[in-house]
Amino acid sequence: MTAEPLEIHLEERDLDRSLRDDVRAGLTADPKWLPPKWFYDARGSELFEEITRLPEYYPTRAERAALGRHASRIAAVTGAKTLIELGSGSSEKTRLLLDALSGQGTLGTFVPLDVSVSALRQSTAAIAADYPHLRVRGIVGDFTRHLDRLPAGGRRLVAFLGGTIGNLLPAERATFLAATRAALEAGDWLLLGTDLVKDPGIIVPAYDDAAGVTTEFNRNVLRVINRELGADFVPDDFRHVAVWDAEREWIEMRLRAQRPMRVRVLDLTVDFAEGEELRTEVSAKFRPEGVATELAAAGFTAEELWTDPDGLFGLTLARAI
Ligand SMILES: C[S@@+](CC[C@H](N)C(=O)[O-])C[C@H]1O[C@@H](n2cnc3c(N)ncnc32)[C@H](O)[C@@H]1O
Repeated sequence: MTAEPLEIHLEERDLDRSLRDDVRAGLTADPKWLPPKWFYDARGSELFEEITRLPEYYPTRAERAALGRHASRIAAVTGAKTLIELGSGSSEKTRLLLDALSGQGTLGTFVPLDVSVSALRQSTAAIAADYPHLRVRGIVGDFTRHLDRLPAGGRRLVAFLGGTIGNLLPAERATFLAATRAALEAGDWLLLGTDLVKDPGIIVPAYDDAAGVTTEFNRNVLRVINRELGADFVPDDFRHVAVWDAEREWIEMRLRAQRPMRVRVLDLTVDFAEGEELRTEVSAKFRPEGVATELAAAGFTAEELWTDPDGLFGLTLARAI
């Protein structure tokens, strides 16, 4: 079967408006920030895939190991007919779930949702070709805004992998989890991948690799803003910085101005002092009890929490109550 045409919930115009709003809010704030969803144009999505293969980037390997061990149990417990994946990217690891759910004969539909049109085009074509028995419905959308448009009915399993939930700030996470719960019926399932708190000596290099791929990924947000909004950032004049915040237990990616700079974007003139930093991503790390508490507050019960053999990454299977 070929993939169905992508369902577009985030049109060019809508994307443009939301990029403008974020740029205006983030670049006039003190300290300056930008949300991580704007990394992911075609180049950004490719760079992220490259990151997942880096020796320092343990989360993808660890989550794949946990999924490999537990996919058949996830399939047996959920009996899902529809698998929805949020922030699906390449959906590479998700194949472990597709295999297990297809193997037991329950799965009929796969619904990946992502802001990245290029990532969705590639993943839906590849998955439709490799799983011809499945209906593949890709949705171009924003998981912070479009969860009310998820397909209804059937036994649904929503997968949110890659530790992407850690990119949301705590209040945003609570809103996101409540919206996910509201989109589901009691008895539906959520599979949540969370990177776990561990020695920062392991975490920091995962966000600051020796080959400099993360540097290019981080600078890509400036390239996106230059191209989409006609801004005049000089990306190479910003240094990539990864900082562990021990109190909040999250890592921040920032771009540090290497010289004083004046940037024109929209109708704004944005000045950077030498050494000034722009926060581009937060990636929170979790403790199992914290995950269970946040899920409970949103109307889920965490039924199982697994990790990879090294205890680096968590996978929680939660039921909507
Ligand atoms: C850290 S990557 C993880 C990709 C994949 N799930 C994995 O585990 O390798 C985050 C993914 O979420 C997508 N994304 C980021 N923010 C999003 C948003 N607000 N709505 C929808 N997708 C988003 C990105 O395009 C990217 O594919």
